[in-house]
Amino acid sequence: MNPALRTIGVVGAGQMGRGIAQVAAQSGFAVLLHDENRGALDAALAHIGDQLERQVQKGKLAPAARSEILARLRPAADAGAFASADFVIEAVSESRPLKARLFESLDATCRPGVILASNTSSISITRLASATRRPSLVIGMHFMNPVPVMDLVEIVAGQSTSNETIETTRGLAKSLGKTPVLAQDYPGFISNRVLMPMINEAIFALYEGVGGRDDIDTVMRLGMRHPMGPLALADFIGLDTCLAILEILHSGFGDPKYRPCPLLRRMVDAGLLGRKSGRGFYDYDAGGAPA
Ligand code: CAA
Repeated sequence: MNPALRTIGVVGAGQMGRGIAQVAAQSGFAVLLHDENRGALDAALAHIGDQLERQVQKGKLAPAARSEILARLRPAADAGAFASADFVIEAVSESRPLKARLFESLDATCRPGVILASNTSSISITRLASATRRPSLVIGMHFMNPVPVMDLVEIVAGQSTSNETIETTRGLAKSLGKTPVLAQDYPGFISNRVLMPMINEAIFALYEGVGGRDDIDTVMRLGMRHPMGPLALADFIGLDTCLAILEILHSGFGDPKYRPCPLLRRMVDAGLLGRKSGRGFYDYDAGGAPA
């Protein structure tokens, strides 16, 4: 563990932010978790408590360790608390103006030399960096969902990101028990450049009647040993998120091979967003489990 990095600030207490906060606290870091929405912050802390309790029940975590991990997590009512953070990871909604405003304000609050990382899945790190006066210290740190389970962190180097920033971030990812992979700042980075065309193609296969929903997912689960079929995975990620990433690939490269399937667009228009809305390619119960 890098001794200079003791306190990790996490902005955004949604699914990704709370997962990052949990993993950081479990890895021994002090964590400041902030969300503008106080309700979301409280819900995230309760969720992390429940997740740790499940690990205690399974005999994977000692009850005392659960208390120590929770004691390392502090809710931050306002972003001013980040003045004491040694490294900040942003995980707010995928909106470029929102993230750019946040980076501008983090740049004003955080000490000089503190790295500002974004968990964005598709927004240009170079553009976010240009909202700050510390572009060499801005980097992508793209975690995968569910964060406590998935081993990968895709580290994204923007145009001005320094080698030192890359190495510090790589070291942090390892301290969090993850395997870092370096990607350059082009649309979709590596993960979504490869994943989203596969998901889009699965939706085209359904749209064109090449196969039914279950057939398409079964081919990829049993034939390629994917833990989930691409349609179930699209529901898991969120169909709106898949569409937004495909739009970024499509406009970023200007290549028609990334055009989103009309069925995906129609489902998003209808509010069928996958697990989070209760319906996508599959139906889900109130707890998000397949119905
Ligand atoms: N949070 C924490 N832990 C979770 C979890 C969650 N949301 N969901 C499952 N787990 C844990 C379970 O507790 C269980 O742990 P133990 O082995 O310690 O008991 C373990 O994961 C396995 O869970 P289950 O047995 O319930 O279910 P499963 O074996 O079907 O696994 C899954 C569930 C891990 C989600 C698996 O289906 C999977 O790996 N799916 C693919 C996920 C994936 O591809 N994620 C990347 C999405 S893309 C992305 O995130 C980036 C982007 O930019 C879009």
